[in-house]
Amino acid sequence: KRTPIVILNFKTYLESTGINAVNLATASEMVAEETGINMVVAPQSSDIYQLSNKVNIPVFAQHIDAVDAGGHTGSTLIECVKEAGADGSLINHSEQRMKLADIDVAVKKLAQKNMVSVLCTNNIETSAAVATLKPDFVAIEPPELIGSGIPVSKAEPEIVEGTVEVIHKIDPEISVLCGAGISTGDDMKAAMDLGADGVLLASGIIKADDPKEALLNLVSKI
Ligand code: G3P
Repeated sequence: KRTPIVILNFKTYLESTGINAVNLATASEMVAEETGINMVVAPQSSDIYQLSNKVNIPVFAQHIDAVDAGGHTGSTLIECVKEAGADGSLINHSEQRMKLADIDVAVKKLAQKNMVSVLCTNNIETSAAVATLKPDFVAIEPPELIGSGIPVSKAEPEIVEGTVEVIHKIDPEISVLCGAGISTGDDMKAAMDLGADGVLLASGIIKADDPKEALLNLVSKI
């Protein structure tokens, strides 16, 4: 069994922006040290540099564009996030969807740079489709449950189980995460019991009164 992984997506909440991002990353690092869980933080691009200089846990970008260096104003270049200290990137999050051909380019660019790819999907069918691109992780997140507080691992367990099954049929090396509405130890345990290797989450921790306590609770049952 693989060591559980928790990826905290900072999105664009003020509670996880700038100095708050530094504090949240520091809390995540403490939880990783105290529990042995693999914690990863995914801040906004502009916060990658300061976070990667501050903490020793992996820092991922939330997105990279399928562009080569040159004239692409406003785009996020993989070379830039790598030099800022990113160890990997989310791709195709439901809040930042990409074309299939661009997803393919992004996965390949990450592999070439020895960076971790976490490819987000919305259902079992798209999970199966993108597994052939061989990302390191597929993260299944039903969009309607994102930010809802209703955990996917309890509300739609068949989506998590079905994704694990189709992905591992295509490529057993790909790790599967699930996300959307996950916040408690029970939610995470349910995800792991369904065959996930970990979770990708945001609001349940970022909006908590005490994010460090919330993270400790999240990993308390595994
Ligand atoms: O990427 C994680 C995410 O989309 C889930 O969001 O707020 O439901 O944990 P949340």
